[in-house]
Amino acid sequence: MNIAFIGGGNMARSLIGGLLARGWHAEQIAVADPLPAQLDALRVQFAVRVTDDNAVATRDADIVVLAVKPQEMRRAADGIRASIAAAQRPLLISVAAGIRASDIQRWLPGIPVVRAMPNRPALQGCGMTGLYATEDVSIERRTLAEQILGAVGATLWLENEQHMDIVTAVSASGPAYFFLLIEMLEHAGIAQGLPAAVSRKLAIETAYGSGAMAHAASEPPAVLREQVTSKGGTTAAALRVLEERRVREAFDAAVAAATRRAAELADEFGPGK
Ligand SMILES: NC(=O)c1ccc[n+]([C@@H]2O[C@H](COP(=O)([O-])OP(=O)(O)OC[C@H]3O[C@@H](n4cnc5c(N)ncnc54)[C@H](OP(=O)(O)O)[C@@H]3O)[C@@H](O)[C@H]2O)c1
Repeated sequence: MNIAFIGGGNMARSLIGGLLARGWHAEQIAVADPLPAQLDALRVQFAVRVTDDNAVATRDADIVVLAVKPQEMRRAADGIRASIAAAQRPLLISVAAGIRASDIQRWLPGIPVVRAMPNRPALQGCGMTGLYATEDVSIERRTLAEQILGAVGATLWLENEQHMDIVTAVSASGPAYFFLLIEMLEHAGIAQGLPAAVSRKLAIETAYGSGAMAHAASEPPAVLREQVTSKGGTTAAALRVLEERRVREAFDAAVAAATRRAAELADEFGPGK
């Protein structure tokens, strides 16, 4: 089984590191990128095969991962059309934000496509990736795609591609919401009189611990929240203010705006574009 990465940037590097850690061999992996410095770094760090020619990388590939910026996707797809047609109809996995699987298949007819929507923590090995497969992707290849993206965190399948816009709004944009929350908690602690460094440490470690607890727990987050909120206590006083100020409504509206924007961005690569 050979895998070719088109684009050797941050996302490709994380995936390659994850795959090697899970037992893939360096010689199974080829990477194409126009930047010589990028290729040298990948060769030194991982001992994978590197080339500046996308067609060479994909020639013997069973799986092709398109890991270029969304605006480069069309050009990258055009550049590998002939080589992947000559290979054995490889599985194509796109990690590009906002490019629909149907558009990729328009550029690469007859090629089964898995669209993956990872997030930034994937670069730390604790990402969350939404996956969507076109109908011609076999069960075995779905499992393979799941293993590849699973090398950098959790994965789940979406059966409706429109839901990928919501995945984009929830988990791909999501880290920014949590950073904002940390930032706001830090600011609020400072406003109450704490030194800035102390407040930041408290906010970051609390986010980390709460995330770890939610991740490990079998109870839903609402139950965890109730468990840490005693009647008439400090947490209840804070939560009452947040509810009165309609923080939930603000969040619903924010995620709705992100979902709409994800759909608009995907339309920019749609038919006729
Ligand atoms: N990083 C994230 O947190 C994240 C999260 C979710 C999704 N993604 C998606 O992952 C994809 C890659 O992101 P990234 O952060 O890894 O970007 P990146 O670091 O910029 O890497 C992309 C690499 O591809 C190269 N490239 C550009 N055009 C190419 C072509 N036609 N053929 C081969 N290589 C080409 C670029 O070279 P040049 O620099 O010379 O252009 C660059 O080295 C994007 O589509 C993004 O939407 C990333």
